[in-house]
Amino acid sequence: MRLITCCSFKGGAGKTTALMGLCSALASGGRTVALFEADENRPLSTWKENALRNDTWDERCEVLVADELPALEDAYEMAERQGYDYALADTHGGSSELNNTIIASSDFLLVPTMLTPLDIDEALATYRYIIELLLAENLHSHTAILQQRVSMGRITASQRSGIELLSALPLCDTPMFERDAFAAMKKRGMLHRTLAGMETSPGLRLPARNYRKAMDEMIALGRYVETALGA
Ligand SMILES: Nc1ncnc2c1ncn2[C@@H]1O[C@H](COP(=O)(O)OP(=O)(O)O)[C@@H](O)[C@H]1O
Ligand SMILES: [Mg+2]
Repeated sequence: MRLITCCSFKGGAGKTTALMGLCSALASGGRTVALFEADENRPLSTWKENALRNDTWDERCEVLVADELPALEDAYEMAERQGYDYALADTHGGSSELNNTIIASSDFLLVPTMLTPLDIDEALATYRYIIELLLAENLHSHTAILQQRVSMGRITASQRSGIELLSALPLCDTPMFERDAFAAMKKRGMLHRTLAGMETSPGLRLPARNYRKAMDEMIALGRYVETALGA
């Protein structure tokens, strides 16, 4: 089992959304995914409830609460015992013993960030924190910055200089754009199953095209991560 974690000090950076999208992509590719719920607000548990209600949950996935160290250990052991391909950990903002343990146990660390100067500062601080923690423990994990909520319109000069700053670091090759399909996931559930439902509903086939683009971005992200992990 490989553990993939989304982390950033900043709330609202797009961690949970990126994780939901990545989970949908991995599940649509036939992978089994344990979701470690390390944020005490439990956004993933709510996501699962909403998905079950909309019949968009994928039974290849399960949410395991991991908001304290002993619960995290139990979740990890259970997921490994049950042979999940991946565990995806959704962390809360800030640094904590729990987050440090998750970081140190991860095979892949994704740091999502929007492109405002403030967000980029936070992402760089998070990235530095992760690297220092890994170095101190002599660990080698994959790390990458994920540009999140990138606007579809023209890139501003300040966004361009932000991207230049980030490009000194490992950067996921496909960004996540600002899309309704992503914002709606928390209510509608798994992206691939929502899309499949839309593509077969008369009257929804046109809006489905935007969902298809969103899904393709997530599949590209999944491929990026799986390639780095050698899966
Ligand atoms: N790519 C995106 N497109 C549109 N909305 C997004 C996107 N990513 C995140 N959001 C929205 O931004 C808000 C914060 O995202 P969230 O993933 O909850 O951040 P975090 O987990 O880092 O606190 C949520 O309302 C979410 O729906
Ligand atoms: Mg979150």
